[in-house]
Amino acid sequence: HKDYESEFNNIPLVHDKFELSPKLLKLNNILGSGAYGIVRLGSLEDKFGNTTNVAVKMLKENPSMEDVQNFHKEILIMKFAGQHPNIVSLIGCCLLYKKPVLVVEYCCKGDLQTYLRKPKKLTDRLQECLSSNRIIHRDLAARNILVCADGIVKISDFGLSRDVYQENLYRKQGNGKLPLKWIAIEALTHQVYTTQSDVYDVMFCCWNTRPQNRPTFTQLKESLDKLLFHQS
Ligand code: ADE
Repeated sequence: HKDYESEFNNIPLVHDKFELSPKLLKLNNILGSGAYGIVRLGSLEDKFGNTTNVAVKMLKENPSMEDVQNFHKEILIMKFAGQHPNIVSLIGCCLLYKKPVLVVEYCCKGDLQTYLRKPKKLTDRLQECLSSNRIIHRDLAARNILVCADGIVKISDFGLSRDVYQENLYRKQGNGKLPLKWIAIEALTHQVYTTQSDVYDVMFCCWNTRPQNRPTFTQLKESLDKLLFHQS
């Protein structure tokens, strides 16, 4: 399958410090699966022979060329996003072999949606930092937020994200599948994605048809902080 290596035309393959040898990676049980890929628990060996739990994302059997391209874009976006305490860390990837794999930190309490459905008190804090990094996630929902042992929550699954370095606007082309229920009104009608379209259903004001009238993440955090801590 030389096509993995040469045919995702517009993205140059860069084999950088993130490239891992698959020999160091052992795959265990499946943690989750989506339309395009599966995530498995893995164990990664370092140069001293110590192992750490990791989450390993890979495409399903017989992916289309578009799936492979999108997966490579997701890996690029994760490299660009850099480190932040509320973003799942990229540990590495294997792009030199037949099947591309993405290795990220393992969040032992799984996804926020399942976590919230279990009866318990949530005292975690989620700060949105993607907009300040000019990344639009496009699928920000509880199922794509992971919970770690210490209760810290982290944004994951950058499969649909876009880097908006030049302009704070992204117009989707083609007919890729989209999470309809969570999409902002102008994204549905005009395929226009802005940082504002990432803000999901916290309050009625988030559904304002004029994107510029919706709250920013900072304003949302302020309102939520007020609700949580000042009851006003
Ligand atoms: N499911 C999907 N990604 C995961 C991760 N990074 N940690 C734990 N469970 C996951």
